[in-house]
Amino acid sequence: MREKYKKAVCPGSFDPITNGHVDIIERAAKIFDQINIAIIENPDKKSFFSLKDRVKMVKETTKHIPQIKVESFHGLLVDYSNKVGANAIIRGLRAVSDFEYEFQMALTNRKMNPELETVFFMTDHKYSYLSSSFVKQIAKLDGDISELVPQAVLRNLKRRQK
Ligand code: PNS
Repeated sequence: MREKYKKAVCPGSFDPITNGHVDIIERAAKIFDQINIAIIENPDKKSFFSLKDRVKMVKETTKHIPQIKVESFHGLLVDYSNKVGANAIIRGLRAVSDFEYEFQMALTNRKMNPELETVFFMTDHKYSYLSSSFVKQIAKLDGDISELVPQAVLRNLKRRQK
């Protein structure tokens, strides 16, 4: 009997995508048949990179993984997941400090849709300190982020500096 097709969403701000995100996505792609990377379009939260640029950078960075689709979404994540027929949400976990927020979000989403399971991937220790917020801070202050983010993000930042 054929196993159930496993489709997941990997949601986030991706402002910008970091090497930590890439590590989680590559590992998740070994387990799930299809992953929709769902980039939030949040009019209430000002992002550093535009939605269009965030989508473009994630697409460029993940083009080597066949089962990845990159999209933006707005509204509730459970509604988006339902629309695309996903049965799991992928999230990365770094330090203990991530736990409370992630726990709350997973339980809230489960309350709204008990069929949608949140699956956590532990970060690789190499990336346990890495966050998009610090990457932005370092970049704004002209620090070197070349080992923290994919090439597509570096190229975007170079263009902005011109
Ligand atoms: O990368 P982030 O900013 O930690 O991602 C947060 C995200 C986009 C996953 C979360 O804010 C989200 O799912 N927003 C959609 C609104 C929603 O469904 N809220 C209820 C669950 S918390």
